[in-house]
Amino acid sequence: MKVGVIGAGTMGQGIAKAFAQVDGYEVALCDIKQEWAEGGKDKIAKGYARLVEKGKMTQEKVDGILASITPGLKEDLCADCDLIVEAAFENMEVKKTTFAELDKICKPECVFASNTSSLSITEIGNGLTRPMIGMHFFNPADRMKLIEVIAGVNTPAEIVEKIVKISEEIGKTPVQVNEAAGFVVNRILIPMINEAAFIKMEGVSDIAGIDAAMKLGANHPMGPLELGDFVGLDICLAIMDVLYNETGDSKYRACPLLRKMVRGGNLGVKSGRGFYVYN
Ligand code: CAA
Repeated sequence: MKVGVIGAGTMGQGIAKAFAQVDGYEVALCDIKQEWAEGGKDKIAKGYARLVEKGKMTQEKVDGILASITPGLKEDLCADCDLIVEAAFENMEVKKTTFAELDKICKPECVFASNTSSLSITEIGNGLTRPMIGMHFFNPADRMKLIEVIAGVNTPAEIVEKIVKISEEIGKTPVQVNEAAGFVVNRILIPMINEAAFIKMEGVSDIAGIDAAMKLGANHPMGPLELGDFVGLDICLAIMDVLYNETGDSKYRACPLLRKMVRGGNLGVKSGRGFYVYN
């Protein structure tokens, strides 16, 4: 099966790995510039090189995975794809334009899926000649077991079944979700990160204290502020704003500290500074 992964950023790279690690899957890793797609594949290669150095993977296995990932432009690589998983910029217009272009490029039986973390699947698919489904991976996408399979208003049951089957084939556990702001995980997880930002803002505890409390007191692998940095504080803020705007419920108001940090470009790991500083 050939999968077109659209967007060679963090999520796109992880999703490409998740498919390419499984025999029988070939990946076209696409971005809007050839060099961005190649840069994504280079980062994937560097990550695997570290695992080979540590003796966690063989060079032979890595070579096989890398050989199944072709970086490039969707115009050149996606015509014969069986599945598209879009992990482009988290913006409705960008996603709609990207899929409108893919609708012309891809063969009719190719299934369209979006990895959106909070936008409406129904709206992303509106105006296309084929149905849309959500296939929501979690960062790091090659390691995290869950895929939220999101049905929009017009997603047929057979497309849901197809994506459930593919998710299982690549070793993930699919959970079926009906479209709703934040789906399941982000509706629970992101307000928790937002609450941690409030706790920091109010001076209830410091950053290290908040993270240690949740790691040791709730057995979370990462503290909420560390996790916010890892996910991207801009993504967390965007999800809070979607939850708030879609429901009008004040329990989803974004923490002013979070908004201020994003306005200041302190986005977490990807910008080198968030709640913590990164090299
Ligand atoms: N194969 C074999 N070994 C591997 C490997 C692979 N593919 N990848 C990593 N390893 C190895 C590492 O080399 C490391 O070995 P050493 O200990 O010898 O160095 C070992 O496995 C452990 O790896 P890490 O230290 O990287 O990983 P960890 O065990 O500390 O776990 C983590 C890292 C998975 C990120 C964990 O901290 C975690 O689960 N964090 C929470 C992540 C989370 O909540 N994600 C969801 C975010 S929300 C989201 O994504 C949705 C959205 O829409 C916003």
